[in-house]
Amino acid sequence: MRAASMTHPQDLRTFLAAYRAAHPDDVLTFRDEASVDQDTTAVIWELASRGLHPILVFEKVAGLALPVPVVTNIFGSRERIARMIGATTATLHAAYQRCSHAAVEPREVASGPITEIVETKSIDLSTLPMLRHFATDRCAYITNGAVIAEGPDGRGGNVSYHRAMIRADTRNELATSLHSRGHLWRLLNMAKAKGKPMAVAMVIGAHPLFMLAASARLGFLEDERNVAGGLMGEPLDVVATPKYGIRVPAYAEFVLEGTIDPDAISEEGPFGEFTGYSSNRSTNNVLRVETIMRRKSPILVDVAGGNSAEHLNLGRVPREAEMVEKLRDRFPSVTAVHYPCSGTHFHAYVAVKQMRPGEARQIMVGLLGWDPYLKTVIAVDEDVDVTRDDQVLWALATHFQPHRDIVVIDGLPGNALDPSASGVGTTSRMGLDATRGPGFEGVRAAISDEAMARAMTLLARNK
Ligand SMILES: Cc1cc2nc3c(=O)[nH]c(=O)nc-3n(C[C@H](O)[C@H](O)[C@H](O)COP(=O)(O)O)c2cc1C
Repeated sequence: MRAASMTHPQDLRTFLAAYRAAHPDDVLTFRDEASVDQDTTAVIWELASRGLHPILVFEKVAGLALPVPVVTNIFGSRERIARMIGATTATLHAAYQRCSHAAVEPREVASGPITEIVETKSIDLSTLPMLRHFATDRCAYITNGAVIAEGPDGRGGNVSYHRAMIRADTRNELATSLHSRGHLWRLLNMAKAKGKPMAVAMVIGAHPLFMLAASARLGFLEDERNVAGGLMGEPLDVVATPKYGIRVPAYAEFVLEGTIDPDAISEEGPFGEFTGYSSNRSTNNVLRVETIMRRKSPILVDVAGGNSAEHLNLGRVPREAEMVEKLRDRFPSVTAVHYPCSGTHFHAYVAVKQMRPGEARQIMVGLLGWDPYLKTVIAVDEDVDVTRDDQVLWALATHFQPHRDIVVIDGLPGNALDPSASGVGTTSRMGLDATRGPGFEGVRAAISDEAMARAMTLLARNK
């Protein structure tokens, strides 16, 4: 086994130093003290209202149980996510899929920075640094908890994010939610059928490409740690946790090892969710922590909560990439796909170079069927820039006739956190065909390339 070195490409610090050197204007450091109570969220919201989404480093945060720097908003910009894998926003989906298909198994190492401190006795979670994100949150939360479970009988594994708070009146238990009812939920039900608790390890802070891979949607027991290796271009270095041997990133900041008892229930939430609403829809699970692993001088890596660009991008980029590949494979006339932040996870825009009447509708129905989160798809022609809400809404305003161009499907499974979904968890979905269609007679007002070039020169010279 290879020993872990002090500086390493899989270390968040190495990433941050290299990124700061290459893009100094895209990292904002605060030397003045911030409060643990909502300040990071407030700064992110204010910057976003000015169209800014830099990485934020808070050197001092008053009120943290452990005095550590806080790094947040790493995923606030798509451009930055694209840079992480050597792509641009235009090539992000294809580059992500290429790396994801090059998935490679982790490489086990004997030790790493995460084994610098290993506590197995008198576990006290109140010693961990945590932030409170919204005034409506029940308390401080771990927003960046990537929960790893090994597959049964050594077959694969799973990584997914789960919000967590310290369970009231306990020192060693977290209350958490598995409301996505994805693979961890399925593994928990398998453990329940065997009458056993499920061993897990929660990683709080690691290299951004591990964090990105952790939100991927793969087949059951296909392991997100392998995708992390694909994105990094080398196997993820992992160490085994002391009690249950769960393989966690050797360069992580904090790891909590323990079990989820399928029969234990705890109050959890409300918490500001990706919909922009405070939600206490929760599966109310309990994670009993038996080991705390951490670096000697850790960083708290936080993921901004609510409908922040960071929360939405992190959850979406891997899923978008998967959907775009699938859609383009089946429908070559699709030229671009975008999930706008304004639609949380519920809207998608598709640009189509239509070959035959009705094709846009077929594409919308395909996407609405494949993507479990979507409620609304808007199809536009290929000259409309789907990364811009204003352009898509212009196409809707001028090409779309409600009596003719709308497809509605009802009674489908909905997202548990959608406040408008029915009590039984179903939703309706719609496709809005904002392509011009046959017989459309409008002539788009145009500006010549020469005039645009002159404008660029005028603007550059008259700043
Ligand atoms: C920052 C972030 C926080 C998340 N929090 C939760 C959560 O608290 N509970 C949950 O069930 N899913 C949460 N999710 C969604 C799951 O991580 C996501 O559905 C995951 O892809 C499911 O993984 P699976 O395909 O391995 O089942 C979160 C996603 C992100 C990006």
